Amino acid sequence: MALLQYNHFVSYHFFMPRLQISRRGQSVIASPIRKFLPLLQAAQKRGVEVYKLNTGDPDIAVPPLFFKTLKQYNSPNLPYAPTPGFPSHVNAWIQYYKQFGVRLEPNNIIPTVGCAEAILLALMAVADDGDEILVFEPLYVSYKSFSVMIGVKLVPIPLSAENNFALPSMNVLQAKVTAKTKAIVVINPDNPTGKLWSDEELSHVVRFAKINNLFVVADETYREIRFVGKASCLLADSESHNNTIVIDSVSKRFSMPGARVGCVVSYNEEVMGAVLKFAQARLSVGTLEQFALDSLIKQSKKITAPIRKEYQARRDIVYSALSAMPGVTCSKPDGAFYIIAKLPVESAEEFVKWLIRDFTYKNHSVMVSPIADFYITPGRGKDEIRIAYVLKIPLLKKAMEVLSKGLEAYGHRK
Ligand SMILES: Cc1ncc(COP(=O)(O)O)c(C=O)c1O
Repeated sequence: MALLQYNHFVSYHFFMPRLQISRRGQSVIASPIRKFLPLLQAAQKRGVEVYKLNTGDPDIAVPPLFFKTLKQYNSPNLPYAPTPGFPSHVNAWIQYYKQFGVRLEPNNIIPTVGCAEAILLALMAVADDGDEILVFEPLYVSYKSFSVMIGVKLVPIPLSAENNFALPSMNVLQAKVTAKTKAIVVINPDNPTGKLWSDEELSHVVRFAKINNLFVVADETYREIRFVGKASCLLADSESHNNTIVIDSVSKRFSMPGARVGCVVSYNEEVMGAVLKFAQARLSVGTLEQFALDSLIKQSKKITAPIRKEYQARRDIVYSALSAMPGVTCSKPDGAFYIIAKLPVESAEEFVKWLIRDFTYKNHSVMVSPIADFYITPGRGKDEIRIAYVLKIPLLKKAMEVLSKGLEAYGHRK
C-alpha cells in the first residue's frame, strides 16, 4: 500500500514543474567587480604579480584609534546591539553631522550593516514591487542587484564623460517620471564616475524631486573624499528635509569596509519608522564595531584630511598617466577614488580578461573593472573601464605603466 502511494506520488511529480529557484535569483547579476576572481587567482598561481585596481577596497591603514578602542571592550558578553543603535554610537553620528550644519535627534539615525544595507533599507522604504526609481548611469552596481531583489525598476538617466557627467536638463529628468516613480538616487561624490555634484546641480535635483513628490536617496559614502570645496551633506538644505534620505558609511572615509557600519539618516518620520521595522527583522549592527567606532566618528575631520590628500595625489597620477595613453580618454574626477577611462578597444571586458590571462610586463599584470555592467542601458560603456586608485603611489605608477604596455600590446596582437 505504501509503495502504491509512493508510485502515485512519483508519477504525480513527473508532471510538476522542475525544482527551480526564484526569478529574482536567476536574474540578479553577479558582481562585475568580483567575477574575474578566478582569473586573478590563476594568474597569481602562475607567479604573476597583479596590481589590483578593480575593487573599491582602500589600502590605507585603519586609524589606530579604532583598534585601541576595541581593546578597551571589557564585558564578558557580546550582546545584540539595540536595533536603533547604541545611544553612544548614535550620539557619535549626531556630533559628526553637526560639522555639516545638520542637527539631528537620535530618531533621525539608524545604524546599518554598511551603506550596502542602507541602500536596501532606503529603497524598500520608498518603493514597492513594480515601482520605479530614477538613477544616473553609470551606477554603483549594488543598486542594480538590490532593485532586482526587491522587484523595483531602475530607470536610467544617462550621463556621459564627454560633458563631465553633468546633470541633464530638467526636461530630460521630467521625461523619465511616470505615475510609478518614487525616488531619485544621487551618489555624491560618485562611484564609478568620481563626479562631484555641484551645489547648483544638487539643488536642481532637490527641486525636481519636490515638484514631482519624489524621495531623494543621497548616497554620501565618499563625503569627505573630494578634491574641490568642503565636505557637505544634502540634509543641510532645509528645503529638502522631508524628501531626503541620506545613506552613509564608515567604509571609505576611514578605510574600513570590513567594519560593515553605515547608517540611514532622515528627518522624514514615516521613512525612519519603516526603516526601523525593516532593521528590526535583521536585529542589529555589530556591537564591537559600534563600540570601537564612536571616537573615530567624532574625530572624523582630523582623520579624513590626510586621506583626502592622499587620494588627490593618486588621482593626479592616474589622470595624467591615462591622458598620456594613445587613444584613451577620461574626464578628471573631483571626488571618491575612481576614474572611468574610454579605451581604444572594442570590448573592455575582453581586454581585461586578456590582460590578466595572457599579458605580463616584467612579470606584472593589472586588474581593472570593465563597466558595461555599471550601465542599465544595453550597449553603453562597452569600451570603458573603472580604475579604483587603491594602491600606494609608487605601485600606482607601476600599475599605470603595465596598463599602458598592455594596451599597446593588445593593439598589436595577432
Ligand atoms: C556609492 C557606494 N554606496 C555604497 C557602497 C557600499 O559601501 P559599504 O561598504 O558601506 O557597504 C559603496 C561601496 O563601494 C559605494 O561605492
